[in-house]
Amino acid sequence: MAIQSVGVIGAGQMGNGIAHVFALAGYDVLMTDISQEALDKAVALIDKNIERQVSRGKATAEDKAAAMGRIKTTLKLADLGKTDLVIEAATERETVKQAIFEDLLPHLKHDTILTSNTSSISITRLASRTDRPEKFMGFHFMNPVPVMQLVELIRGIATDEPTYQALVEVVERIGKTAASAEDFPAFIVNRILMPMINEAVYTLYEGVGNVKSIDSAMKLGTNHPMGPLELADFIGLDTCLAIMNVLHEGLADTKYRPCPLLTKYVEAGWLGRKTGRGFYDYRGEEPVPTR
Ligand code: CAA
Repeated sequence: MAIQSVGVIGAGQMGNGIAHVFALAGYDVLMTDISQEALDKAVALIDKNIERQVSRGKATAEDKAAAMGRIKTTLKLADLGKTDLVIEAATERETVKQAIFEDLLPHLKHDTILTSNTSSISITRLASRTDRPEKFMGFHFMNPVPVMQLVELIRGIATDEPTYQALVEVVERIGKTAASAEDFPAFIVNRILMPMINEAVYTLYEGVGNVKSIDSAMKLGTNHPMGPLELADFIGLDTCLAIMNVLHEGLADTKYRPCPLLTKYVEAGWLGRKTGRGFYDYRGEEPVPTR
């Protein structure tokens, strides 16, 4: 089946980036969210981000106009039923994702491929609660989606080969590179990245370094574009904690124990850039370390 239309569930950080790259690659995109305000904000942000690509010569004004014309929004989840591929990018909570699939499934074409952008939840378990585990996959994008080259493809135990091959082709068409991961907690990227971020928080908690020295050490010492604490703020500390909990529970190994200081920041509502404060305070002109 040729995929031409894509439904994106969730207009947040990941959803708007996913809509952006699919529209630029020529797909018809239908994006949904529970809030009209979130949808309007997402469309405005996509416009701004594609404009940035135009100003840097990475896309033309015609590409931008065509892409924006291909993006439609709706508050009705059922409207996504007629799309060829659905990408769920809602909140990283299993109960939320399950409820969305339950509401969507009665409206979905029988051959639509259903995917989740989950960063850590079991694909096999999510798939088992749908009517199409063989057409269900993990489709994990990195943030910021328009910039990051990688997409992780995760097959559940029941995913069939045509579904996997269809997604390999989609990844090629959007100009990204796929890495295939088996369906174990947090897959590849977050299995490696999150323990590093968690260790950086332990390094801070134990006073080995402060926010500035830890981030400088990793940026200048290992050529990472962002220090681990800056990156944690960028990803969202609630997401980082949720992924550490999935690793800790799913692999039952104390080496994945979330740092108590990470828990403390999340309890304070200091979730990083999105709430204006995390390991840095973003409310002024320049980010200021909070420790
Ligand atoms: N849309 C389009 N283009 C964007 C963009 C966006 N949202 N954000 C940045 N860009 C573009 C800029 O236009 C710029 O393009 P050029 O190279 O053509 O100039 C380029 O990206 C770099 O941007 P900036 O110059 O503004 O900023 P920078 O050089 O500091 O880079 C960054 C920003 C790309 C985010 C870089 O800091 C970086 O790579 N950070 C690490 C990001 C990372 O590790 N992401 C993965 C997180 S893990 C994850 O997502 C998985 C998970 O499940 C948690």
